[in-house]
Amino acid sequence: MSGNVHPAGAAPLIATADRPGGIRVITLDNPPANAISYALSAQLVTALEAANADPAIRAIVFTGAGGRFSFGADINDFATEPTPETKTARDVIAAVERSAKTFVAAIEGNALGGGFELALACDYRIGSQKTKLGLPEIKLGLLPGAGGTQRLPRLIGAQDALQLMLKGDTIAAEEARNKGILDEVVAGDVVAAAVALIERVGAAAPKRRLSARTTELGVKGMGLFAVPFVVAQAHKMVPPESNGGFAAHKLIDAVEASLELDFAHGLAREFRLFDELVRSAPSAALQHVFFAERQLGKIPDLPAAEPQEITTAGVIGAGTMGTGIAITFANAGIPVILIEPADEQIERSKQMVFGMFAHQVQRGRLTQEEAWKLGQSISWETDYGELAGVDIVVEAVFENMDVKKQVFSRLDAICKPQAILASNTSTLDIDEMAAVTRRPDRFVGLHFFAPANIMKLLEIVRGAHTSPQTLTTAVKLGKTLRKVAVVSANAFGFIGNRMFFDYAREAMYLLEEGIPPERIDRVMKQQFGFAMGPFATFDLSGVDVFWHIQQERVEALGEKRTNIIDRMYAAKRWGQKTGLGFYKYDGPSKREPVPDPDLIALVAEEAAAAGLKPRSVSDNEIIERLAYALVNVGADLLDKEIALRPGDEDIVYIYGYGFPPHHGGPMWYADEVGVATVAGKIKAFGWPVSPLLERIAQSGGTIAGYKKEFAHA
Ligand code: 3HC
Ligand code: NAI
Repeated sequence: MSGNVHPAGAAPLIATADRPGGIRVITLDNPPANAISYALSAQLVTALEAANADPAIRAIVFTGAGGRFSFGADINDFATEPTPETKTARDVIAAVERSAKTFVAAIEGNALGGGFELALACDYRIGSQKTKLGLPEIKLGLLPGAGGTQRLPRLIGAQDALQLMLKGDTIAAEEARNKGILDEVVAGDVVAAAVALIERVGAAAPKRRLSARTTELGVKGMGLFAVPFVVAQAHKMVPPESNGGFAAHKLIDAVEASLELDFAHGLAREFRLFDELVRSAPSAALQHVFFAERQLGKIPDLPAAEPQEITTAGVIGAGTMGTGIAITFANAGIPVILIEPADEQIERSKQMVFGMFAHQVQRGRLTQEEAWKLGQSISWETDYGELAGVDIVVEAVFENMDVKKQVFSRLDAICKPQAILASNTSTLDIDEMAAVTRRPDRFVGLHFFAPANIMKLLEIVRGAHTSPQTLTTAVKLGKTLRKVAVVSANAFGFIGNRMFFDYAREAMYLLEEGIPPERIDRVMKQQFGFAMGPFATFDLSGVDVFWHIQQERVEALGEKRTNIIDRMYAAKRWGQKTGLGFYKYDGPSKREPVPDPDLIALVAEEAAAAGLKPRSVSDNEIIERLAYALVNVGADLLDKEIALRPGDEDIVYIYGYGFPPHHGGPMWYADEVGVATVAGKIKAFGWPVSPLLERIAQSGGTIAGYKKEFAHA
């Protein structure tokens, strides 16, 4: 038999082809991910039943079209409750288990999640050099739910399998062969290699079903008697259930079942745990984050344009940001020239670069040779003339409009006409900068986050005259630099900092109401799940920075009720950089925040002078005021079309500000709570409610369902 097996009228998602000797090749062909959707599963089950019933078929090869095996179950399906008739990856794998034929997975490219689980159900697995295998379900707040938690421990030992699944990382072909996951890694055609293997092992190929094996613990010197100890340790290593560890604890339970129960009962345990997770709030939030991230590059109303080639770059200013940006370009294989007038700053920048690469070598992430090559691709110069031939220049000088304008008019005169000019400003108007050049169409904001070589977030700021080609180039460059790039319109603070200012305002107000910084930080970190509380964040980014913002844009941080920030600035309480801020940093690491009674006294004095009385505030109110401040301003930015989508704002907050991914970002969180509840609270706090939020609350809708037409209704 050859052709497509699918119900009448349905799109074919698999193709079958027979080879001599009773070998049937089934190709998963469901671009772009070969996702094992409900529909594809139904077609696979039908194909397997047909093959099982055909005595002429003795072996089946699974493979994937388009250079990939399968990225797993279709995440879009998770929102739809399966009916008794629905077929899933589990049914496909059950059909493999029931069959007495020989199964080989011929894996080109990625086999992830349900795709890898299908391969694990086969008797043999063959990969190519490009093959990557993994069970990344944890990143979606799930655990492998098509037998992965039972089969992988039986193949490589429980400890190893658990670590792989808890991290959700992929492993490359050679490592997979060393671990015994792949039987062969071939240079050529994986399907041809699978066919050759079947011919070699012959008709009486031994069945190598993992379901027939038992699980070893896989810890040297420890037998199964150590299971309770290893399991207890694993539970201790992951975050609490209520704070990001929801799926991790269940995953450990499933792997424990693989050690303690027979295969069928272990599998039943896994299915139950997966089913509990798949429609849980944390998983829904993480699924939202997955899709929101994939939406970022899709910019509505952007005419198609061919991106420009970026093969060389310049950076102006070798300070904190400029140096980090240069490292980012170098890491992406783009040689970069750093222009810096101050000699001592050049020295500091060189130390930062070489220190960073040396650290990478120490950690085994780079070889000496690679580090040397990367170092060579950054050069430090004082003369702007060196930039005449580069494709893009990113400016990272002081946050001062006049200085930046001078820099851009010089660059405009020196750089080739097609070069793109970009600013890393955190708050300033990029159109005003573009106006001093003759190429406002080739001007864009590229707002990196500190440290620029580590933080994944990049805000791309689209100016009034930024051309479609420049924007398309910036989006492509974001990918090349391995950043998560979000497009923002040109407005004060763009998306992230604009939202952060309202959050900062509420944190300051809580402080003025007598709540110590350590309590506010503890609630936001340990209860809500932020990577860091607001006051630790202020101390990290610098209280002096806030003071400057307050000087220039008084309204940015809301009504100024006290002189706390002024006094902190005057007393050089600038945060970690001066060893004193909202905390003191006098411990051995100089980084650990230590509560400081002097700060509390300063706050109390200023609050009393402003006539503010200490209030009793619940932990819940702390969360609500800080999180809803983000929601309210986020809704306003959507209304004003500064952010394209609520999901873009969520991504900014998760990747740039440590918002807990299991709440899906501030805008998703508002839907989780209910927009009407959030709007009601905002009113009760006495803040003006964003008109968009008000409209959504009144219509009973969700922010996720927000549409521009609705916003303008
Ligand atoms: N389901 C549905 N769509 C998927 C998908 C999946 N499992 N994996 C990828 N896609 C889609 C993406 O949404 C994107 O669609 P678009 O072009 O319409 O935006 C397209 O495939 C290409 O994906 P990327 O843009 O992400 O491509 P990259 O090359 O950048 O990344 C990847 C590839 C690292 C494989 C990334 O796509 C990824 O991480 N995918 C998810 C893998 C995963 O989590 N699998 C487990 C699923 S859950 C599961 O299998 C449950 C089971 O245990 C029962
Ligand atoms: P920085 O003070 O560390 O570095 C600025 C560098 O620019 C200095 O080395 C200075 O000598 C150099 N410089 C000044 N004028 C110059 C000129 N005309 N030509 C060449 N070099 C010149 O400042 P930082 O923190 O790196 O900030 C730079 C820019 O990045 C600012 O616009 C800032 O708002 C923005 N930014 C800063 C972030 C941070 O967390 N530090 C985060 C994101 C953006």
